[in-house]
Amino acid sequence: MNLGFLASHNGSNMQSIIDACKAGTLQAVPALVISNNSKSGALERARKESIPCAHISGATHGSAEGEDEAILDALQAHNVDVVVLAGYMKKLGPKTLAHYAGAILNIHPALLPKFGGEGMYGIRVHQAVLAAGEKESGPTVHVVDAEYDKGPILAQRRVPVLPDDTPETLAARVLEQEHRIYPETLQRIVTGEIRLPRP
Ligand code: GRF
Repeated sequence: MNLGFLASHNGSNMQSIIDACKAGTLQAVPALVISNNSKSGALERARKESIPCAHISGATHGSAEGEDEAILDALQAHNVDVVVLAGYMKKLGPKTLAHYAGAILNIHPALLPKFGGEGMYGIRVHQAVLAAGEKESGPTVHVVDAEYDKGPILAQRRVPVLPDDTPETLAARVLEQEHRIYPETLQRIVTGEIRLPRP
């Protein structure tokens, strides 16, 4: 299974998946890293790991449509089977969404369907969880479709919300589990335990 990553910032989730591939606990190949941010940690990590990588954005490719086409071309050129969104801050274009329908995954740092949707990203998610007085939070791995955070849920893991939590301490507790559940879920796809909803 060839993996194509899309990441905008640090790329720690992507790194946890690359590490699992290297350790053999995930039988997959990191085939390509794409970032819309030329200065992202994700691109730096890709170079360090000698994984092919590309900077593709509306700015580099003229328009949202050009960006969509460039992303799809790159994924296909590297024989990507499954697209892994790992902190990708942009919406995918219609061509990429259609071609990879049912084979695009995302990780969200809360228990969807709660605390998802437009504008719910980064520290805002954890702020909202604390403001709602939730007793539990945790990451969700789900299939991506045209709507934010709405596709079928593949896996979730629960962590406690502690009385003295700040958004940052909660984020760190959730992130630790993100780094486990994302590679584990991909391996469950490799073994056939989880079937992707390909049309
Ligand atoms: C993670 O919290 C993930 O849940 C969200 O974006 C963040 C990415 O972090 N989608 P990193 O770039 O993988 O470190």
